[in-house]
Amino acid sequence: MKLLMCRPTYYGIEYEINPWMNVDYKVNHAIAINQWNTLYDTIQQCGAQVELIEPVKGWPDMVFTANAGLYYQQKIILPHFKYKERQGELAYFKKWFIDAGLELINPDIHEQTPFFEGAGDALLAGNKLFAGYGFRSDATFYKSDFFDESNLIYCELIDPYFYHIDTCFCPLTDELAIWYPSAFSSASQKKMAKEIELIAVTAEEAKKFACNSVVLNKNIILPSGCPQLADTLSAYNFNVHPCDMNEYLKAGGACKCLTLRID
Ligand code: ARG
Repeated sequence: MKLLMCRPTYYGIEYEINPWMNVDYKVNHAIAINQWNTLYDTIQQCGAQVELIEPVKGWPDMVFTANAGLYYQQKIILPHFKYKERQGELAYFKKWFIDAGLELINPDIHEQTPFFEGAGDALLAGNKLFAGYGFRSDATFYKSDFFDESNLIYCELIDPYFYHIDTCFCPLTDELAIWYPSAFSSASQKKMAKEIELIAVTAEEAKKFACNSVVLNKNIILPSGCPQLADTLSAYNFNVHPCDMNEYLKAGGACKCLTLRID
């Protein structure tokens, strides 16, 4: 497994585009760098390869590479970021994908393209794509002909604190996932429960971003402060690796948001 990450050199809270962000709630840069380095090391110790994109000054959320695209059928689907505060990241990520030799499914993002925030909002379990919408991605994006309609599960997000699907849902295997059910509309909850076995996290641990975990086979890297989920995962025979992520919670992100699968 290969993941794309971006060092937090220019990371900070410089605007507010989700309810977690507060410009008065500054990032401690030294701690943020340590937390990112620990995550980076842990991912590699768990056997994944990490590629790095050069951070760019003025794009403080570029560290959240999960939104840079979606790796789908060996190709990349580019995002259309909802907020102008992040739209400028696209050019850098697009160039990186092209230079890395990755094929782009939708190279021409324009103003009329429905919004789509990449792997932050679309998660695969086997060949099923759990397609999040409601805050940052538009449901209409998934009508694009490059998606296989029969494998799409539309998941409506209804709680602004869980504005991307990767903040409240995380496949562990093709048949098993964790979730925070009340982040989804009741119709979506019912649909999702028919598609995959679900382990619910508590409200308290959901707010610590329990669902924003990196899954590398039997290893799960999750934000610290989620002891109940850690116990449950151990009981399912996963190796659990808690990582301190509080500097990233300030931006509304954690472990998984800082990575993008690219193979
Ligand atoms: N501050 C970033 C934003 O609001 C956080 C992105 C988190 N990414 C994610 N995949 N959940 O866009």
